[in-house]
Amino acid sequence: MKPTVSIGIIGGGLMGREIASAFARWCSLTEVPVRPRLAAVADLNPAALDWFAELPDAPRCVTDYRELLADPPVEVVYVAVPHHLHEAIYQDVLAAGKDLLAEKPFGIDLATARRLAAAVETSGRFVRCSSEFPFLPGAQRAFDYLKSGALGRPLEAVFGFHHGSDLDPGKAANWKRQNISCGEIGVLGDLGMHACHLPLRLGWRPETLTAQLTKGYPQRPDGRGGLASCDTWDNALLHCWASIDGQRTPLRLEMKRLSPGATNTWFLDVTGTEGGVRFSTAEPKTLHLFERGAEQWWKRTDLGFGTPFKTITGGIFEPGFPDLIQQMWASYLTERAGQLGSRFGCATVAEAVATHEIYAAALESQQNDSSTVNLPAAP
Ligand SMILES: NC(=O)c1ccc[n+]([C@@H]2O[C@H](COP(=O)([O-])OP(=O)(O)OC[C@H]3O[C@@H](n4cnc5c(N)ncnc54)[C@H](O)[C@@H]3O)[C@@H](O)[C@H]2O)c1
Repeated sequence: MKPTVSIGIIGGGLMGREIASAFARWCSLTEVPVRPRLAAVADLNPAALDWFAELPDAPRCVTDYRELLADPPVEVVYVAVPHHLHEAIYQDVLAAGKDLLAEKPFGIDLATARRLAAAVETSGRFVRCSSEFPFLPGAQRAFDYLKSGALGRPLEAVFGFHHGSDLDPGKAANWKRQNISCGEIGVLGDLGMHACHLPLRLGWRPETLTAQLTKGYPQRPDGRGGLASCDTWDNALLHCWASIDGQRTPLRLEMKRLSPGATNTWFLDVTGTEGGVRFSTAEPKTLHLFERGAEQWWKRTDLGFGTPFKTITGGIFEPGFPDLIQQMWASYLTERAGQLGSRFGCATVAEAVATHEIYAAALESQQNDSSTVNLPAAP
């Protein structure tokens, strides 16, 4: 029997449930050295806990997360709550001596992310930040390709994440549409980690950026028959310069909640003089690679279930969002057990802070009529 790791979830909403479901079908993973056991769940809203009470692990359900943190067997805590609550709860998790898989954006702003990073350092706990899309087979293939030098001289790199559901003015407001709970960074904090994680892991850190941020509808139904104001940035286009393979190269990061037709579209498009790679979750098993010979070719490959952590799923099948969440957890728990090897690791605290440096620069640029802002060099 594999050793078990007792896990607590704080925040039993959209993501809390997704993570619990990934644990419930852990049997599909064949080479992860440990097995998670969902020991406890905390949510302020008792109704949110009903679903968890039915799970095979029968987790303890509490409305005060401090009870979960006081539970000695809980070793690792996953926190999925609105952004204005990240700091207090992450600090409490660390103070309770637990390891943490934090949700992005890792605090509501740059100052918070830096305070949290300092607390992680002092605590010595194993902490990573949630970012699942790099675990897609297409993303992994692109990552390996981009590290290989196959691009030749890099020409341009684009990484993005697009949603379209906010185009519906009848969609109710929630905490993600208000600065007070989502943060002044708005869509940057909501979708930015997804766009920034791979370029940061590749070492393609923006050196300067120019931001174009736009807002959506100023009011939305509040779900109680009235209207709620919505003040967050909804779309962000960040035009950056980054050093890619020693060349100063245009890097564009796109995060949009108002992208006509997109559901959860994560994509990358990187080109060079010799090669190029394109991948999008709009075509989740299709990888495009560029080749330049006598003619110029975009080769299209159908990918299978080539996830970093092997599963029982047949190699020709295609993965989806729940698989990525499970792969991310496989990576977190394998790295925590010291057995990650050369496989892809979850977003680090330093990477989370770097995303906030990008967001802070974007706000500064926007405030100054999309002026160019210099970013701090890598620590
Ligand atoms: N990795 C991803 O793909 C992804 C996707 C969506 C959201 N997120 C992130 O996950 C986090 C949560 O987002 P969500 O969409 O799950 O939100 P959600 O609104 O669906 O769920 C949040 C839950 O937290 C609970 N909560 C609020 N305050 C609490 C407290 N003090 N103690 C315990 N529970 C409390 C709420 O009752 C709610 O059930 C955010 O940081 C968000 O950015 C990540």
